Amino acid sequence: MEVVPLDSVEEVAALGADVIEAAVRARAGAAVLGLATGSTPLPAYRELIRRHAAGSGPSYAGVRCFTLDEYVGLSPGHPESYRATIARELTDPLGIPADRVHGPDPSPTGLATAGERYEEALVAAGGVDVQVLGIGSDGHLAFNEPGSSLASLTRIKTLTEETRRDNARFFGSVDEVPRHVLTQGLGTILRARHLLLLATGAGKAAALAAAVEGPLTASCPASVLQLHPHVTVLCDPAAADGLA
Ligand code: F6R
Repeated sequence: MEVVPLDSVEEVAALGADVIEAAVRARAGAAVLGLATGSTPLPAYRELIRRHAAGSGPSYAGVRCFTLDEYVGLSPGHPESYRATIARELTDPLGIPADRVHGPDPSPTGLATAGERYEEALVAAGGVDVQVLGIGSDGHLAFNEPGSSLASLTRIKTLTEETRRDNARFFGSVDEVPRHVLTQGLGTILRARHLLLLATGAGKAAALAAAVEGPLTASCPASVLQLHPHVTVLCDPAAADGLA
Protein backbone atom coordinates (compact mmCIF):
# COMPACT_ATOMS: atom_id res chain seq x y z
CA MET A 1 0.00 0.00 0.00
CA GLU A 2 1.27 3.42 -0.95
CA VAL A 3 0.26 6.05 1.66
CA VAL A 4 0.92 9.61 0.51
CA PRO A 5 0.50 12.30 3.18
CA LEU A 6 -0.03 15.63 1.42
CA ASP A 7 -0.04 19.26 2.56
CA SER A 8 -3.63 20.21 1.75
CA VAL A 9 -7.03 19.15 0.46
CA GLU A 10 -6.08 20.86 -2.82
CA GLU A 11 -3.04 18.58 -3.20
CA VAL A 12 -5.20 15.53 -2.51
CA ALA A 13 -7.56 16.74 -5.23
CA ALA A 14 -4.79 17.40 -7.75
CA LEU A 15 -3.03 14.06 -7.22
CA GLY A 16 -6.34 12.21 -7.12
CA ALA A 17 -7.24 13.78 -10.47
CA ASP A 18 -3.82 12.79 -11.83
CA VAL A 19 -4.40 9.13 -10.89
CA ILE A 20 -7.86 9.05 -12.50
CA GLU A 21 -6.65 10.79 -15.66
CA ALA A 22 -3.70 8.39 -15.91
CA ALA A 23 -6.13 5.42 -15.85
CA VAL A 24 -8.24 7.02 -18.60
CA ARG A 25 -5.19 7.71 -20.77
CA ALA A 26 -3.73 4.23 -20.18
CA ARG A 27 -6.84 2.62 -21.69
CA ALA A 28 -6.97 5.11 -24.58
CA GLY A 29 -10.26 6.47 -23.27
CA ALA A 30 -11.92 3.06 -22.75
CA ALA A 31 -11.27 2.94 -19.01
CA VAL A 32 -13.74 1.69 -16.46
CA LEU A 33 -13.90 4.07 -13.50
CA GLY A 34 -15.31 3.13 -10.11
CA LEU A 35 -16.77 6.22 -8.46
CA ALA A 36 -17.47 7.06 -4.84
CA THR A 37 -19.96 9.74 -3.87
CA GLY A 38 -19.88 11.69 -0.60
CA SER A 39 -17.95 14.88 0.17
CA THR A 40 -14.36 13.68 0.05
CA PRO A 41 -13.91 13.08 -3.71
CA LEU A 42 -15.66 16.31 -4.72
CA PRO A 43 -12.50 18.49 -4.87
CA ALA A 44 -10.83 15.84 -7.10
CA TYR A 45 -13.93 15.63 -9.29
CA ARG A 46 -14.00 19.44 -9.60
CA GLU A 47 -10.34 19.37 -10.60
CA LEU A 48 -11.08 16.81 -13.33
CA ILE A 49 -13.93 19.01 -14.57
CA ARG A 50 -11.71 22.12 -14.48
CA ARG A 51 -9.01 20.41 -16.55
CA HIS A 52 -11.60 19.01 -18.98
CA ALA A 53 -13.11 22.48 -19.49
CA ALA A 54 -9.62 23.92 -19.98
CA GLY A 55 -8.92 21.30 -22.67
CA SER A 56 -6.02 19.71 -20.79
CA GLY A 57 -7.83 16.54 -19.65
CA PRO A 58 -8.07 13.23 -21.54
CA SER A 59 -10.98 12.24 -23.75
CA TYR A 60 -13.79 10.61 -21.78
CA ALA A 61 -15.64 9.54 -24.92
CA GLY A 62 -15.40 5.78 -24.31
CA VAL A 63 -15.18 5.76 -20.52
CA ARG A 64 -17.66 3.72 -18.49
CA CYS A 65 -18.42 4.41 -14.83
CA PHE A 66 -19.75 2.30 -11.97
CA THR A 67 -20.84 3.83 -8.69
CA LEU A 68 -20.08 2.08 -5.43
CA ASP A 69 -23.51 2.19 -3.92
CA GLU A 70 -27.06 3.55 -3.99
CA TYR A 71 -29.79 4.36 -1.49
CA VAL A 72 -32.88 2.17 -1.45
CA GLY A 73 -36.27 3.83 -1.05
CA LEU A 74 -35.71 7.28 -2.55
CA SER A 75 -38.11 8.44 -5.24
CA PRO A 76 -36.72 7.95 -8.79
CA GLY A 77 -34.61 10.99 -9.75
CA HIS A 78 -34.25 12.14 -6.11
CA PRO A 79 -31.41 14.72 -6.11
CA GLU A 80 -29.56 12.86 -3.32
CA SER A 81 -29.69 9.49 -5.09
CA TYR A 82 -26.16 8.53 -6.00
CA ARG A 83 -27.14 8.24 -9.66
CA ALA A 84 -28.28 11.88 -9.69
CA THR A 85 -25.35 13.01 -7.53
CA ILE A 86 -22.60 11.49 -9.68
CA ALA A 87 -24.23 12.83 -12.87
CA ARG A 88 -24.39 16.34 -11.40
CA GLU A 89 -20.96 16.33 -9.73
CA LEU A 90 -18.88 14.55 -12.36
CA THR A 91 -20.14 12.61 -15.33
CA ASP A 92 -22.44 15.22 -16.94
CA PRO A 93 -19.77 17.95 -16.76
CA LEU A 94 -17.23 15.51 -18.27
CA GLY A 95 -19.67 14.70 -21.09
CA ILE A 96 -19.99 11.00 -20.19
CA PRO A 97 -23.45 9.92 -21.41
CA ALA A 98 -25.92 8.56 -18.82
CA ASP A 99 -26.03 5.13 -20.47
CA ARG A 100 -22.31 4.71 -19.66
CA VAL A 101 -22.83 5.43 -15.96
CA HIS A 102 -24.02 2.45 -13.97
CA GLY A 103 -25.17 1.96 -10.39
CA PRO A 104 -26.91 -0.75 -8.41
CA ASP A 105 -30.63 -0.70 -9.35
CA PRO A 106 -32.75 0.19 -6.30
CA SER A 107 -36.13 -0.18 -8.02
CA PRO A 108 -38.47 -2.22 -5.77
CA THR A 109 -39.33 -4.82 -8.41
CA GLY A 110 -35.73 -5.86 -9.07
CA LEU A 111 -34.31 -5.49 -5.59
CA ALA A 112 -33.89 -9.21 -4.90
CA THR A 113 -31.59 -9.67 -7.90
CA ALA A 114 -30.01 -6.19 -8.01
CA GLY A 115 -26.75 -7.28 -6.38
CA GLU A 116 -26.24 -10.24 -8.65
CA ARG A 117 -27.04 -8.17 -11.76
CA TYR A 118 -24.57 -5.48 -10.72
CA GLU A 119 -21.81 -8.02 -10.22
CA GLU A 120 -22.54 -9.40 -13.70
CA ALA A 121 -22.40 -5.91 -15.20
CA LEU A 122 -19.03 -5.24 -13.58
CA VAL A 123 -17.63 -8.50 -14.94
CA ALA A 124 -19.09 -7.83 -18.41
CA ALA A 125 -17.36 -4.43 -18.44
CA GLY A 126 -14.03 -6.16 -17.82
CA GLY A 127 -13.67 -4.95 -14.23
CA VAL A 128 -12.79 -1.58 -12.78
CA ASP A 129 -9.46 0.05 -13.69
CA VAL A 130 -9.36 2.54 -10.85
CA GLN A 131 -11.79 2.61 -7.95
CA VAL A 132 -12.15 5.91 -6.07
CA LEU A 133 -12.95 5.37 -2.38
CA GLY A 134 -13.75 7.45 0.66
CA ILE A 135 -13.72 6.15 4.22
CA GLY A 136 -16.45 6.47 6.84
CA SER A 137 -15.67 7.79 10.31
CA ASP A 138 -16.46 4.25 11.56
CA GLY A 139 -14.12 2.69 8.99
CA HIS A 140 -16.80 1.78 6.46
CA LEU A 141 -15.91 1.38 2.82
CA ALA A 142 -18.71 1.99 0.34
CA PHE A 143 -21.62 1.09 2.67
CA ASN A 144 -19.93 -1.93 4.17
CA GLU A 145 -20.39 -1.09 7.82
CA PRO A 146 -18.33 -2.67 10.63
CA GLY A 147 -19.00 -6.40 10.75
CA SER A 148 -19.35 -6.76 6.98
CA SER A 149 -17.82 -9.87 5.46
CA LEU A 150 -14.43 -9.17 3.93
CA ALA A 151 -15.44 -11.34 0.95
CA SER A 152 -18.90 -9.77 0.45
CA LEU A 153 -20.38 -8.94 -2.95
CA THR A 154 -23.01 -6.36 -3.95
CA ARG A 155 -26.06 -6.68 -1.69
CA ILE A 156 -28.58 -4.80 0.43
CA LYS A 157 -27.30 -3.43 3.73
CA THR A 158 -28.81 -1.51 6.64
CA LEU A 159 -27.04 1.73 7.53
CA THR A 160 -25.84 2.30 11.09
CA GLU A 161 -27.23 5.28 12.98
CA GLU A 162 -23.73 6.87 12.89
CA THR A 163 -23.66 6.79 9.08
CA ARG A 164 -27.25 8.04 8.85
CA ARG A 165 -26.32 10.95 11.13
CA ASP A 166 -23.15 11.61 9.04
CA ASN A 167 -25.23 11.70 5.86
CA ALA A 168 -28.09 13.79 7.29
CA ARG A 169 -26.24 16.88 6.02
CA PHE A 170 -27.29 15.93 2.47
CA PHE A 171 -30.96 15.62 3.47
CA GLY A 172 -33.40 17.84 5.42
CA SER A 173 -33.01 15.75 8.58
CA VAL A 174 -31.72 12.38 9.74
CA ASP A 175 -35.26 10.99 9.43
CA GLU A 176 -35.10 11.52 5.66
CA VAL A 177 -31.90 9.47 5.26
CA PRO A 178 -32.86 6.05 3.92
CA ARG A 179 -32.23 3.07 6.19
CA HIS A 180 -31.16 0.71 3.43
CA VAL A 181 -28.67 0.80 0.58
CA LEU A 182 -27.33 -1.40 -2.17
CA THR A 183 -23.56 -1.48 -1.94
CA GLN A 184 -20.65 -3.16 -3.64
CA GLY A 185 -19.18 -5.64 -1.20
CA LEU A 186 -15.63 -5.58 0.11
CA GLY A 187 -14.90 -8.55 -2.16
CA THR A 188 -16.27 -6.58 -5.12
CA ILE A 189 -14.05 -3.60 -4.32
CA LEU A 190 -10.97 -5.82 -4.05
CA ARG A 191 -11.49 -6.94 -7.68
CA ALA A 192 -10.72 -3.44 -9.01
CA ARG A 193 -7.21 -3.24 -10.42
CA HIS A 194 -6.20 -0.07 -8.54
CA LEU A 195 -7.81 1.33 -5.40
CA LEU A 196 -7.53 5.08 -4.75
CA LEU A 197 -8.56 6.03 -1.20
CA LEU A 198 -8.98 9.74 -0.50
CA ALA A 199 -9.16 10.87 3.14
CA THR A 200 -9.39 14.45 4.35
CA GLY A 201 -10.30 16.07 7.65
CA ALA A 202 -9.77 15.24 11.32
CA GLY A 203 -12.95 13.15 11.40
CA LYS A 204 -11.17 10.49 9.32
CA ALA A 205 -7.91 10.29 11.32
CA ALA A 206 -8.86 7.41 13.62
CA ALA A 207 -10.52 5.37 10.87
CA LEU A 208 -7.59 5.89 8.48
CA ALA A 209 -5.04 4.83 11.09
CA ALA A 210 -7.07 1.71 11.90
CA ALA A 211 -7.46 0.86 8.21
CA VAL A 212 -3.81 1.32 7.29
CA GLU A 213 -1.93 0.35 10.45
CA GLY A 214 -4.43 -1.66 12.50
CA PRO A 215 -5.23 -5.36 12.27
CA LEU A 216 -7.16 -6.79 9.32
CA THR A 217 -10.64 -7.04 10.81
CA ALA A 218 -14.28 -6.80 9.82
CA SER A 219 -14.61 -4.30 12.70
CA CYS A 220 -12.77 -1.86 10.42
CA PRO A 221 -14.01 -2.74 6.91
CA ALA A 222 -11.44 -0.43 5.26
CA SER A 223 -8.64 -2.60 6.69
CA VAL A 224 -9.47 -4.96 3.80
CA LEU A 225 -7.37 -2.61 1.65
CA GLN A 226 -4.34 -4.31 3.21
CA LEU A 227 -5.16 -7.39 1.11
CA HIS A 228 -4.98 -5.56 -2.23
CA PRO A 229 -1.71 -5.38 -4.18
CA HIS A 230 -2.24 -1.88 -5.61
CA VAL A 231 -3.65 0.73 -3.24
CA THR A 232 -2.90 4.45 -3.21
CA VAL A 233 -4.00 6.46 -0.16
CA LEU A 234 -3.93 10.24 -0.50
CA CYS A 235 -4.56 12.15 2.73
CA ASP A 236 -4.33 15.69 4.07
CA PRO A 237 -2.51 16.54 7.35
CA ALA A 238 -5.68 16.32 9.46
CA ALA A 239 -6.58 12.83 8.21
CA ALA A 240 -2.94 11.69 8.50
CA ASP A 241 -2.77 12.78 12.13
CA GLY A 242 -3.31 9.28 13.56
CA LEU A 243 -0.68 7.59 11.37
CA ALA A 244 2.60 6.51 12.97
C1 F6R B 1 -19.99 6.87 -0.95
C2 F6R B 1 -19.43 5.85 -0.09
C3 F6R B 1 -19.11 6.11 1.35
C4 F6R B 1 -18.30 7.38 1.56
C5 F6R B 1 -18.02 7.56 3.04
C6 F6R B 1 -17.31 8.85 3.32
O1 F6R B 1 -20.19 6.36 -2.24
O2 F6R B 1 -19.25 4.77 -0.55
O3 F6R B 1 -18.36 5.02 1.84
O4 F6R B 1 -17.10 7.31 0.84
O5 F6R B 1 -19.23 7.54 3.75
O6 F6R B 1 -18.16 9.91 3.01
P1 F6R B 1 -17.64 11.40 2.93
O7 F6R B 1 -16.67 11.46 1.82
O8 F6R B 1 -18.88 12.21 2.65
O9 F6R B 1 -17.03 11.71 4.26
